[in-house]
Amino acid sequence: MKGLVLSGGAGTRLRPITHTSAKQLVPIANKPIIFYVVEQLVGAGITEIGIVISEGDTGDEITAAVGDGSKWDVHITYIPQDAPLGLAHCVLISHAFLGDDDFVMYLGDNMLQQDLRQFVERFETERSRPPTLGERDRVTPAAQILLAHVSDPRQFGVAELDADGDVVRLVEKPQQPPSDLALAGVYLFDRRINDAVRSIEPSARGELEITDAIQWLLDHDLRVVHEVLEGWWIDTGKKDPLLHCNRLVLDMLVPRTDGHVDEQSRVEGRVVIEDGAELVNSVVRGPAIIGSRTRLVDTYVGPYTSIGPDCQLIDAEVEHSVVLASSTINGVHRIQDSLLGRESEVVRSGIRPGATRLMLGDHSRVDLE
Ligand code: TTP
Repeated sequence: MKGLVLSGGAGTRLRPITHTSAKQLVPIANKPIIFYVVEQLVGAGITEIGIVISEGDTGDEITAAVGDGSKWDVHITYIPQDAPLGLAHCVLISHAFLGDDDFVMYLGDNMLQQDLRQFVERFETERSRPPTLGERDRVTPAAQILLAHVSDPRQFGVAELDADGDVVRLVEKPQQPPSDLALAGVYLFDRRINDAVRSIEPSARGELEITDAIQWLLDHDLRVVHEVLEGWWIDTGKKDPLLHCNRLVLDMLVPRTDGHVDEQSRVEGRVVIEDGAELVNSVVRGPAIIGSRTRLVDTYVGPYTSIGPDCQLIDAEVEHSVVLASSTINGVHRIQDSLLGRESEVVRSGIRPGATRLMLGDHSRVDLE
């Protein structure tokens, strides 16, 4: 079993962060999303991992951050995609890496609470089960999809199941959903998906859709089974789901203090203070994480906040937010529900006349109190 992580794509929904960096590298509790994805695959016993990256800047950045896989004792192969032509296109261009092996395909910006191991083992068991009389080829599933109950299925790819729980049809963003089971970002395939991705045509939006490839399997009388996800599943590609995911992961944090907390400071609840961080006359109320070498002076950091490394927070209050590396917040009370990119500065300079002075990247958004 191999792993295929999809980390190309345009990332338009997380602009302006994704103007300058890959969305799969945005940190959740100060760790890049794609690291959680690789760790899920490693946890399921997978050691051969392919990562689809877009050619150019974000691809180079992902390669630099993830490396050759030696930090997880696995082997990583990078597969450049020249344009985001769809999830099935990723399978098509990964053929040399995948060969005829079974594989898990995992969207590089999705996070699951549930372990992958059980999902992978179920597929392997189904495939090794001897057919009973009359079952013939249909016994061996060509794919296994992971589904999640959602409140508004009209925004997702939705599966229709038969009485045995086999998938009979997939519909993309249906007006009349056949169920409330949406495709979560993890799929298992055998070699027959290669025929499917070679046979389908681009959709109206010009992409080779994985839902069309799975539908092709069904149309050719191949079996597609499913499993319903336990726990949460989040597509982190937008700000609010990303903050939500940060909250869920911080809730599982194991508290530790590797940095320095002075006598006038207080740390309450589930908090990680990373190596070299410093608290001066400040309060951190968890769940929260303060990154390496970050300095808090006369500052309050409230629940569900991740402050990246090398930041300076002076006379500031921040809550329910993600602040990326090397940012500065000075004299601002209070920042909430916010995502700040690397080297951001939010300061109250005191310069007269008093006014809000902005220097915003394209697609930025400011909500003044
Ligand atoms: P999406 O979030 O569906 O697409 P996107 O990255 O283009 O994002 P946006 O809608 O914000 O513009 O992609 C899911 C994952 O798959 C994500 O990690 C990027 C990756 N992907 C590829 O690697 N190649 C592709 O051709 C596409 C469409 C996505």
